[in-house]
Amino acid sequence: MQIKIAKDYAEMSRLAADMISRLIEDRPDAVLGLATGSTPVGLYEELVKRHKAGLDFSRVTTFNLDEYYGLHGEHPASYNYYMWEHLFGKINISQEKVNLPNGAAPDPEEECRRYEDKIAAAGGIDLQILGIGSNAHIGFNEPGTPFGSVTSLVKLAPATIQANARFFEREEDVPRKAFSMGIKSIMRCRSIVLLANGEGKADAVAAAVQGPVTEEVPASVLQLHPNCTFILDEAAAKKLSC
Ligand code: GLP
Repeated sequence: MQIKIAKDYAEMSRLAADMISRLIEDRPDAVLGLATGSTPVGLYEELVKRHKAGLDFSRVTTFNLDEYYGLHGEHPASYNYYMWEHLFGKINISQEKVNLPNGAAPDPEEECRRYEDKIAAAGGIDLQILGIGSNAHIGFNEPGTPFGSVTSLVKLAPATIQANARFFEREEDVPRKAFSMGIKSIMRCRSIVLLANGEGKADAVAAAVQGPVTEEVPASVLQLHPNCTFILDEAAAKKLSC
């Protein structure tokens, strides 16, 4: 696992955008795995800037990590809506190459199978962006999720519901379930870049990087990945001992 410490959020976002830009320049038909939440907003702003300066997304395919269950893609708190607002609507990606789980799918099991099959049919993910929850979840894989899990319908932990309430009118409106790529689906990605900023993530980052590899700390599994980089701002790196 490689650790890069950026001086602030803007630098963290630029470093991540550099890795994505380099990948797309080398491989114009790259398959990207994308994340939502507050953390990658700056990365997406950087990618939009780079697109304006010539970075071509026309052959890029994307798969998002997760989506709320029970929200239609047009719902302003859905991850589909977020992705179009922050990135897809501002770059030249083709709509058919954009993939997220369908939060309104009538048959959740079938939807999970469809999503895993689609990732496999695209040849797998070249580079997966991750954020991290303050309980060290990745995607929506909460503490206790088996490391062998693939895309599934998962229950959100109370801490996650609380943390994500800021995107909804009321806490009661936060869906209690979500589709999430599993830990195994994430570990299959050829490279992984986890972003974390702010003091609120410092404990989760330290547990993920320096603690034991355990299903109680989902992000700790990344210690076992052959090509994983953590890009942290100084506040998120504060509890690392080296
Ligand atoms: C959310 C998402 C994760 C995200 C994490 C951190 O619940 N499902 O994919 O990485 O929590 O969110 P934020 O970046 O807003 O702190």
